[in-house]
Amino acid sequence: MPPTVLVRDLAQLATPAGEGAPLRGAALDRVEVVEDAYVLCDAGRIVDVGRMRDLRPVAGDVVEVDGRGRCAIPGLVDCHTHACFLGDRVGEFDLRSRGASYEELHAAGGGIQSTVAATREGGERELERAVRRHALAMRARGTTTFEAKSGYGLDRDTELASLRAVRAAGGVPTWLGAHSIPTEFDSADAYLDFALAEVLPEAARLAEAADVFVEREAFDLAQARRYLSACKGVGLALRLHGDQFTELGAVGLAIEVGARSVDHLEATGHDGVRALGRSEVVAVLLPASALFLARPMPPARALVDAGAAIALATDFNPGSAFCESLPLVCSLACTQLRLTPAEALGACTVNAAHVLGRAAHKGRLAPGFDADFVLLDAPDWRYLAYHLAGDVVGAVAAGGEVTARVELIAATAPAARPG
Ligand code: NIG
Ligand code: FE
Repeated sequence: MPPTVLVRDLAQLATPAGEGAPLRGAALDRVEVVEDAYVLCDAGRIVDVGRMRDLRPVAGDVVEVDGRGRCAIPGLVDCHTHACFLGDRVGEFDLRSRGASYEELHAAGGGIQSTVAATREGGERELERAVRRHALAMRARGTTTFEAKSGYGLDRDTELASLRAVRAAGGVPTWLGAHSIPTEFDSADAYLDFALAEVLPEAARLAEAADVFVEREAFDLAQARRYLSACKGVGLALRLHGDQFTELGAVGLAIEVGARSVDHLEATGHDGVRALGRSEVVAVLLPASALFLARPMPPARALVDAGAAIALATDFNPGSAFCESLPLVCSLACTQLRLTPAEALGACTVNAAHVLGRAAHKGRLAPGFDADFVLLDAPDWRYLAYHLAGDVVGAVAAGGEVTARVELIAATAPAARPG
Protein backbone atom coordinates (compact mmCIF):
# COMPACT_ATOMS: atom_id res chain seq x y z
CA MET A 1 0.00 0.00 0.00
CA PRO A 2 1.54 3.39 -0.95
CA PRO A 3 2.23 5.51 2.16
CA THR A 4 0.62 8.75 3.20
CA VAL A 5 2.49 11.46 1.30
CA LEU A 6 2.39 15.17 2.01
CA VAL A 7 3.90 17.53 -0.56
CA ARG A 8 4.27 20.81 1.29
CA ASP A 9 5.26 24.43 0.71
CA LEU A 10 4.66 24.27 -3.05
CA ALA A 11 5.14 27.58 -4.85
CA GLN A 12 2.00 26.73 -6.83
CA LEU A 13 -0.47 23.95 -7.36
CA ALA A 14 -2.13 24.17 -10.78
CA THR A 15 -5.00 22.05 -12.03
CA PRO A 16 -7.57 22.38 -14.81
CA ALA A 17 -10.55 24.18 -13.29
CA GLY A 18 -14.11 22.93 -13.12
CA GLU A 19 -15.49 19.45 -13.17
CA GLY A 20 -16.27 16.93 -15.85
CA ALA A 21 -14.61 16.19 -19.15
CA PRO A 22 -13.82 16.95 -21.83
CA LEU A 23 -13.23 20.68 -21.41
CA ARG A 24 -14.12 22.90 -24.37
CA GLY A 25 -14.02 26.54 -25.38
CA ALA A 26 -13.41 29.05 -22.58
CA ALA A 27 -13.55 26.27 -19.95
CA LEU A 28 -10.37 24.74 -21.42
CA ASP A 29 -8.53 28.02 -20.77
CA ARG A 30 -9.21 28.02 -17.02
CA VAL A 31 -6.62 26.74 -14.58
CA GLU A 32 -7.06 26.87 -10.83
CA VAL A 33 -3.82 28.06 -9.21
CA VAL A 34 -3.21 27.79 -5.46
CA GLU A 35 -0.11 29.59 -4.14
CA ASP A 36 1.85 28.25 -1.17
CA ALA A 37 0.06 24.95 -1.45
CA TYR A 38 0.08 21.34 -0.32
CA VAL A 39 -1.11 18.01 -1.73
CA LEU A 40 -1.97 15.20 0.68
CA CYS A 41 -2.20 11.64 -0.67
CA ASP A 42 -3.09 8.36 0.95
CA ALA A 43 -3.27 4.84 -0.44
CA GLY A 44 -2.54 6.08 -3.95
CA ARG A 45 -5.29 8.71 -3.99
CA ILE A 46 -5.32 12.45 -3.40
CA VAL A 47 -7.21 13.12 -0.18
CA ASP A 48 -6.76 16.87 0.14
CA VAL A 49 -5.23 19.90 -1.58
CA GLY A 50 -5.11 23.48 -0.35
CA ARG A 51 -3.12 26.38 1.06
CA MET A 52 -0.41 25.70 3.63
CA ARG A 53 -2.05 28.00 6.15
CA ASP A 54 -5.14 25.74 6.10
CA LEU A 55 -3.21 22.47 6.49
CA ARG A 56 -4.35 20.51 9.54
CA PRO A 57 -2.08 18.03 11.37
CA VAL A 58 -1.91 14.68 9.57
CA ALA A 59 -2.18 11.58 11.75
CA GLY A 60 0.13 8.55 11.45
CA ASP A 61 3.33 8.04 9.46
CA VAL A 62 3.72 10.63 6.75
CA VAL A 63 6.35 10.88 4.03
CA GLU A 64 6.95 14.59 3.55
CA VAL A 65 8.14 15.96 0.22
CA ASP A 66 9.64 19.44 0.06
CA GLY A 67 7.76 21.47 -2.53
CA ARG A 68 9.69 24.72 -2.06
CA GLY A 69 10.47 26.35 -5.40
CA ARG A 70 8.31 23.78 -7.17
CA CYS A 71 4.89 23.63 -8.80
CA ALA A 72 2.56 20.64 -8.79
CA ILE A 73 0.46 19.83 -11.86
CA PRO A 74 -1.52 16.67 -12.62
CA GLY A 75 0.42 13.72 -14.01
CA LEU A 76 0.46 14.08 -17.78
CA VAL A 77 -1.60 11.69 -19.89
CA ASP A 78 -0.21 10.67 -23.28
CA CYS A 79 -3.29 9.39 -25.11
CA HIS A 80 -1.58 8.55 -28.44
CA THR A 81 1.70 6.66 -28.72
CA HIS A 82 3.12 3.81 -30.77
CA ALA A 83 5.53 2.76 -28.01
CA CYS A 84 5.51 -0.94 -28.89
CA PHE A 85 8.19 -1.37 -31.57
CA LEU A 86 11.66 -2.75 -32.10
CA GLY A 87 14.49 -1.30 -34.16
CA ASP A 88 14.68 2.30 -35.29
CA ARG A 89 14.40 4.44 -38.42
CA VAL A 90 17.49 6.55 -38.01
CA GLY A 91 18.55 5.67 -41.58
CA GLU A 92 15.26 7.02 -42.93
CA PHE A 93 15.67 10.09 -40.76
CA ASP A 94 19.00 10.69 -42.50
CA LEU A 95 17.36 10.20 -45.91
CA ARG A 96 14.57 12.62 -45.00
CA SER A 97 17.19 15.18 -44.01
CA ARG A 98 18.43 14.87 -47.61
CA GLY A 99 15.00 15.54 -49.08
CA ALA A 100 13.17 12.17 -49.18
CA SER A 101 9.60 12.47 -47.95
CA TYR A 102 7.90 10.24 -45.38
CA GLU A 103 5.26 9.27 -47.95
CA GLU A 104 7.92 8.40 -50.58
CA LEU A 105 9.77 6.18 -48.10
CA HIS A 106 6.50 4.46 -47.20
CA ALA A 107 5.57 3.91 -50.86
CA ALA A 108 9.04 2.43 -51.49
CA GLY A 109 8.45 -0.25 -48.85
CA GLY A 110 10.17 1.53 -45.98
CA GLY A 111 8.39 3.47 -43.28
CA ILE A 112 5.92 1.49 -41.19
CA GLN A 113 6.80 -1.72 -43.08
CA SER A 114 10.42 -1.58 -42.00
CA THR A 115 9.38 -1.27 -38.35
CA VAL A 116 6.96 -4.16 -38.87
CA ALA A 117 9.86 -6.30 -40.08
CA ALA A 118 12.03 -5.35 -37.09
CA THR A 119 9.21 -5.85 -34.61
CA ARG A 120 8.34 -9.31 -35.94
CA GLU A 121 11.97 -10.34 -35.33
CA GLY A 122 11.67 -10.01 -31.56
CA GLY A 123 9.72 -12.04 -29.07
CA GLU A 124 7.15 -10.92 -26.55
CA ARG A 125 9.71 -10.45 -23.76
CA GLU A 126 11.78 -8.17 -25.94
CA LEU A 127 8.69 -6.16 -26.82
CA GLU A 128 7.75 -5.89 -23.18
CA ARG A 129 11.25 -4.65 -22.30
CA ALA A 130 11.02 -2.07 -25.07
CA VAL A 131 7.67 -0.73 -23.89
CA ARG A 132 8.89 -0.61 -20.28
CA ARG A 133 11.97 1.36 -21.36
CA HIS A 134 9.87 3.82 -23.36
CA ALA A 135 7.41 4.11 -20.44
CA LEU A 136 10.27 5.11 -18.13
CA ALA A 137 11.47 7.69 -20.63
CA MET A 138 7.94 9.11 -20.77
CA ARG A 139 7.67 9.04 -16.97
CA ALA A 140 10.90 11.05 -16.66
CA ARG A 141 9.13 13.73 -18.72
CA GLY A 142 6.02 13.75 -16.57
CA THR A 143 3.77 11.18 -18.22
CA THR A 144 2.02 9.03 -15.63
CA THR A 145 -0.57 7.43 -17.92
CA PHE A 146 0.16 6.39 -21.47
CA GLU A 147 -1.73 4.70 -24.26
CA ALA A 148 0.24 2.54 -26.68
CA LYS A 149 -0.91 0.99 -29.91
CA SER A 150 -0.02 -2.26 -31.57
CA GLY A 151 0.26 -1.96 -35.34
CA TYR A 152 3.88 -2.99 -35.94
CA GLY A 153 3.07 -6.69 -35.90
CA LEU A 154 0.18 -7.01 -38.33
CA ASP A 155 0.27 -10.78 -37.89
CA ARG A 156 -1.68 -12.59 -35.20
CA ASP A 157 1.14 -13.46 -32.83
CA THR A 158 2.97 -10.13 -32.93
CA GLU A 159 -0.21 -8.05 -32.63
CA LEU A 160 -1.39 -10.01 -29.59
CA ALA A 161 2.11 -10.03 -28.08
CA SER A 162 2.21 -6.25 -28.55
CA LEU A 163 -1.07 -5.75 -26.71
CA ARG A 164 0.08 -7.99 -23.85
CA ALA A 165 3.42 -6.15 -23.71
CA VAL A 166 1.67 -2.78 -23.43
CA ARG A 167 -0.54 -4.09 -20.63
CA ALA A 168 2.43 -5.63 -18.80
CA ALA A 169 4.28 -2.31 -18.97
CA GLY A 170 1.30 -0.49 -17.45
CA GLY A 171 0.03 1.14 -20.64
CA VAL A 172 -3.48 1.44 -22.02
CA PRO A 173 -3.52 -0.85 -25.07
CA THR A 174 -5.10 0.05 -28.41
CA TRP A 175 -5.34 -2.46 -31.23
CA LEU A 176 -4.08 -0.64 -34.32
CA GLY A 177 -4.82 -3.69 -36.42
CA ALA A 178 -5.40 -1.50 -39.45
CA HIS A 179 -2.13 0.46 -39.51
CA SER A 180 -0.72 -0.71 -42.83
CA ILE A 181 -1.21 -3.54 -45.29
CA PRO A 182 1.48 -6.15 -44.62
CA THR A 183 3.41 -7.25 -47.69
CA GLU A 184 2.14 -10.84 -47.56
CA PHE A 185 -1.37 -9.63 -48.48
CA ASP A 186 -2.43 -8.50 -51.97
CA SER A 187 -5.02 -6.02 -50.83
CA ALA A 188 -6.33 -4.13 -47.84
CA ASP A 189 -9.58 -6.10 -47.99
CA ALA A 190 -7.79 -9.46 -47.93
CA TYR A 191 -5.75 -8.30 -44.94
CA LEU A 192 -8.90 -7.10 -43.14
CA ASP A 193 -10.59 -10.48 -43.79
CA PHE A 194 -7.69 -12.06 -41.91
CA ALA A 195 -7.38 -9.48 -39.13
CA LEU A 196 -11.07 -9.40 -38.28
CA ALA A 197 -11.46 -13.18 -38.33
CA GLU A 198 -8.17 -14.23 -36.72
CA VAL A 199 -6.95 -11.37 -34.53
CA LEU A 200 -9.97 -9.35 -33.41
CA PRO A 201 -11.54 -12.02 -31.13
CA GLU A 202 -8.45 -12.13 -28.89
CA ALA A 203 -7.48 -8.46 -29.42
CA ALA A 204 -10.91 -7.51 -28.08
CA ARG A 205 -10.00 -9.16 -24.78
CA LEU A 206 -6.62 -7.41 -24.51
CA ALA A 207 -7.25 -3.92 -25.91
CA GLU A 208 -9.48 -1.08 -24.75
CA ALA A 209 -9.79 0.58 -28.15
CA ALA A 210 -9.25 -0.01 -31.85
CA ASP A 211 -7.56 2.39 -34.27
CA VAL A 212 -7.25 2.64 -38.06
CA PHE A 213 -4.97 4.67 -40.34
CA VAL A 214 -7.21 6.29 -42.96
CA GLU A 215 -4.84 7.38 -45.72
CA ARG A 216 -4.07 6.86 -49.40
CA GLU A 217 -1.37 4.23 -48.86
CA ALA A 218 -3.27 2.63 -45.98
CA PHE A 219 -7.07 2.14 -45.57
CA ASP A 220 -9.87 3.92 -47.40
CA LEU A 221 -13.12 5.06 -45.86
CA ALA A 222 -15.10 1.90 -46.66
CA GLN A 223 -12.35 -0.33 -45.30
CA ALA A 224 -12.04 1.80 -42.16
CA ARG A 225 -15.82 1.69 -41.65
CA ARG A 226 -15.79 -2.09 -41.94
CA TYR A 227 -12.90 -2.45 -39.46
CA LEU A 228 -14.36 0.00 -36.93
CA SER A 229 -17.87 -1.48 -37.11
CA ALA A 230 -16.51 -4.94 -36.35
CA CYS A 231 -14.44 -3.55 -33.45
CA LYS A 232 -17.42 -1.62 -32.09
CA GLY A 233 -19.43 -4.83 -32.23
CA VAL A 234 -17.11 -6.45 -29.69
CA GLY A 235 -17.14 -3.45 -27.37
CA LEU A 236 -13.90 -1.67 -28.24
CA ALA A 237 -13.76 2.12 -28.12
CA LEU A 238 -12.90 3.59 -31.52
CA ARG A 239 -10.10 5.89 -32.65
CA LEU A 240 -8.90 6.97 -36.09
CA HIS A 241 -5.71 8.33 -37.61
CA GLY A 242 -7.31 10.86 -39.96
CA ASP A 243 -6.38 13.77 -42.22
CA GLN A 244 -2.64 13.36 -41.59
CA PHE A 245 -1.72 13.96 -45.23
CA THR A 246 -5.02 13.78 -47.11
CA GLU A 247 -8.58 14.69 -46.18
CA LEU A 248 -10.40 11.48 -47.09
CA GLY A 249 -13.46 11.82 -44.82
CA ALA A 250 -12.07 10.41 -41.58
CA VAL A 251 -13.74 13.18 -39.55
CA GLY A 252 -17.20 12.32 -40.89
CA LEU A 253 -16.59 8.63 -40.30
CA ALA A 254 -15.40 9.27 -36.74
CA ILE A 255 -18.62 11.15 -36.01
CA GLU A 256 -20.75 8.53 -37.79
CA VAL A 257 -19.34 5.60 -35.77
CA GLY A 258 -19.20 7.51 -32.46
CA ALA A 259 -15.42 7.37 -32.14
CA ARG A 260 -13.67 8.60 -29.00
CA SER A 261 -11.20 10.54 -31.11
CA VAL A 262 -9.83 11.38 -34.50
CA ASP A 263 -6.11 12.03 -34.39
CA HIS A 264 -3.61 14.08 -36.48
CA LEU A 265 -5.85 16.45 -38.54
CA GLU A 266 -2.95 18.31 -40.14
CA ALA A 267 -4.93 18.39 -43.41
CA THR A 268 -8.37 19.16 -41.95
CA GLY A 269 -10.23 22.05 -43.58
CA HIS A 270 -13.08 24.35 -42.44
CA ASP A 271 -15.86 21.79 -42.83
CA GLY A 272 -14.04 19.21 -40.74
CA VAL A 273 -13.31 21.81 -38.06
CA ARG A 274 -16.98 22.84 -37.96
CA ALA A 275 -18.17 19.24 -37.84
CA LEU A 276 -15.82 18.41 -34.95
CA GLY A 277 -16.99 21.54 -33.14
CA ARG A 278 -20.52 20.17 -33.09
CA SER A 279 -19.51 16.61 -32.16
CA GLU A 280 -18.50 14.52 -29.16
CA VAL A 281 -15.36 13.26 -30.95
CA VAL A 282 -12.11 14.56 -29.44
CA ALA A 283 -9.58 16.03 -31.88
CA VAL A 284 -6.20 14.65 -30.80
CA LEU A 285 -3.41 16.94 -32.00
CA LEU A 286 0.16 15.72 -32.46
CA PRO A 287 2.37 18.74 -33.15
CA ALA A 288 5.61 16.82 -32.53
CA SER A 289 4.71 14.61 -35.48
CA ALA A 290 3.96 17.58 -37.74
CA LEU A 291 7.27 19.16 -36.65
CA PHE A 292 9.28 15.95 -37.10
CA LEU A 293 7.93 15.50 -40.65
CA ALA A 294 8.04 19.23 -41.46
CA ARG A 295 4.31 19.15 -42.20
CA PRO A 296 1.67 21.84 -41.61
CA MET A 297 0.39 22.10 -38.05
CA PRO A 298 -3.22 21.05 -37.34
CA PRO A 299 -5.85 23.84 -37.05
CA ALA A 300 -5.88 23.75 -33.25
CA ARG A 301 -7.00 27.34 -32.63
CA ALA A 302 -9.89 27.02 -35.07
CA LEU A 303 -10.93 23.71 -33.46
CA VAL A 304 -11.02 25.16 -29.95
CA ASP A 305 -12.82 28.29 -31.16
CA ALA A 306 -15.38 26.11 -32.98
CA GLY A 307 -16.16 24.35 -29.69
CA ALA A 308 -14.30 21.10 -30.38
CA ALA A 309 -12.77 19.14 -27.53
CA ILE A 310 -9.05 18.77 -28.17
CA ALA A 311 -6.31 16.68 -26.60
CA LEU A 312 -2.55 16.81 -27.13
CA ALA A 313 -0.28 13.76 -27.40
CA THR A 314 3.23 12.89 -28.55
CA ASP A 315 2.47 10.22 -31.21
CA PHE A 316 5.78 8.71 -30.00
CA ASN A 317 7.00 6.27 -32.68
CA PRO A 318 10.26 5.60 -34.55
CA GLY A 319 9.18 7.08 -37.89
CA SER A 320 7.07 10.20 -37.63
CA ALA A 321 7.59 11.39 -34.04
CA PHE A 322 10.60 10.08 -32.13
CA CYS A 323 9.68 12.14 -29.08
CA GLU A 324 8.45 11.07 -25.62
CA SER A 325 8.03 14.57 -24.22
CA LEU A 326 4.61 16.05 -23.46
CA PRO A 327 6.25 19.20 -22.04
CA LEU A 328 7.81 19.73 -25.48
CA VAL A 329 4.39 19.10 -27.04
CA CYS A 330 2.95 21.79 -24.72
CA SER A 331 5.65 24.21 -25.91
CA LEU A 332 4.75 23.45 -29.52
CA ALA A 333 1.07 23.89 -28.67
CA CYS A 334 1.76 27.43 -27.44
CA THR A 335 4.29 28.45 -30.09
CA GLN A 336 2.91 26.67 -33.17
CA LEU A 337 -0.76 25.85 -32.49
CA ARG A 338 -1.68 29.21 -30.90
CA LEU A 339 -2.98 27.59 -27.73
CA THR A 340 -2.47 29.08 -24.27
CA PRO A 341 -0.49 27.30 -21.54
CA ALA A 342 -3.82 26.67 -19.77
CA GLU A 343 -5.35 25.09 -22.89
CA ALA A 344 -2.24 22.97 -23.37
CA LEU A 345 -2.37 21.75 -19.77
CA GLY A 346 -6.05 20.79 -20.02
CA ALA A 347 -5.45 19.07 -23.35
CA CYS A 348 -2.79 16.69 -22.00
CA THR A 349 -4.44 16.04 -18.63
CA VAL A 350 -8.25 16.04 -18.29
CA ASN A 351 -9.06 15.84 -21.99
CA ALA A 352 -6.46 13.17 -22.72
CA ALA A 353 -7.76 11.19 -19.74
CA HIS A 354 -11.23 11.45 -21.28
CA VAL A 355 -9.94 9.98 -24.55
CA LEU A 356 -8.71 7.01 -22.50
CA GLY A 357 -11.96 6.72 -20.53
CA ARG A 358 -10.21 7.68 -17.29
CA ALA A 359 -11.30 11.27 -16.62
CA ALA A 360 -13.19 10.33 -13.45
CA HIS A 361 -9.92 9.66 -11.62
CA LYS A 362 -7.05 11.01 -13.72
CA GLY A 363 -6.11 14.45 -15.08
CA ARG A 364 -6.86 16.68 -12.09
CA LEU A 365 -5.37 17.46 -8.70
CA ALA A 366 -8.43 17.09 -6.51
CA PRO A 367 -9.62 14.82 -3.68
CA GLY A 368 -10.58 11.38 -4.95
CA PHE A 369 -8.30 11.52 -7.99
CA ASP A 370 -5.34 9.18 -8.38
CA ALA A 371 -2.17 10.49 -6.72
CA ASP A 372 -0.49 11.11 -10.08
CA PHE A 373 1.33 14.42 -10.24
CA VAL A 374 4.40 16.18 -11.56
CA LEU A 375 6.59 18.48 -9.50
CA LEU A 376 8.00 21.10 -11.83
CA ASP A 377 11.33 22.62 -10.82
CA ALA A 378 10.02 26.08 -11.66
CA PRO A 379 8.50 29.08 -9.90
CA ASP A 380 5.40 29.13 -12.15
CA TRP A 381 3.46 26.18 -13.60
CA ARG A 382 3.51 27.75 -17.08
CA TYR A 383 7.20 26.84 -17.34
CA LEU A 384 5.74 23.48 -18.47
CA ALA A 385 5.26 25.07 -21.90
CA TYR A 386 7.52 28.11 -21.56
CA HIS A 387 10.85 26.32 -21.10
CA LEU A 388 11.42 24.89 -24.57
CA ALA A 389 12.94 21.42 -24.12
CA GLY A 390 13.90 22.47 -20.58
CA ASP A 391 14.44 20.02 -17.74
CA VAL A 392 11.36 21.26 -15.93
CA VAL A 393 10.24 17.93 -14.47
CA GLY A 394 11.83 17.56 -11.02
CA ALA A 395 9.88 14.58 -9.72
CA VAL A 396 6.91 12.46 -10.72
CA ALA A 397 4.37 10.64 -8.57
CA ALA A 398 2.26 7.81 -9.93
CA GLY A 399 -0.24 6.24 -7.57
CA GLY A 400 1.36 8.18 -4.72
CA GLU A 401 4.86 6.84 -5.32
CA VAL A 402 7.23 9.77 -5.79
CA THR A 403 10.31 9.32 -7.99
CA ALA A 404 12.90 11.98 -8.72
CA ARG A 405 13.55 12.65 -12.40
CA VAL A 406 17.27 11.88 -12.00
CA GLU A 407 16.38 8.38 -10.80
CA LEU A 408 14.05 7.87 -13.75
CA ILE A 409 16.69 9.06 -16.20
CA ALA A 410 19.24 6.72 -14.58
CA ALA A 411 16.81 3.82 -15.00
CA THR A 412 16.56 4.47 -18.75
CA ALA A 413 20.29 4.85 -19.34
CA PRO A 414 21.71 2.12 -21.64
CA ALA A 415 23.97 0.65 -18.94
CA ALA A 416 20.97 -0.04 -16.72
CA ARG A 417 18.84 -1.58 -19.46
CA PRO A 418 17.85 -5.12 -18.63
CA GLY A 419 19.04 -7.91 -20.93
O1 NIG B 1 0.72 8.32 -36.27
N1 NIG B 1 0.45 7.64 -39.49
C1 NIG B 1 0.48 6.51 -39.09
N2 NIG B 1 1.12 6.05 -38.02
C2 NIG B 1 2.10 6.74 -37.25
C3 NIG B 1 3.44 6.66 -37.82
C4 NIG B 1 3.97 5.30 -37.80
C5 NIG B 1 5.36 5.18 -38.33
O2 NIG B 1 5.83 5.99 -39.14
O3 NIG B 1 6.00 4.21 -37.93
C6 NIG B 1 1.69 8.16 -36.97
O4 NIG B 1 2.33 9.11 -37.40
FE1 FE C 1 -0.07 7.83 -34.54
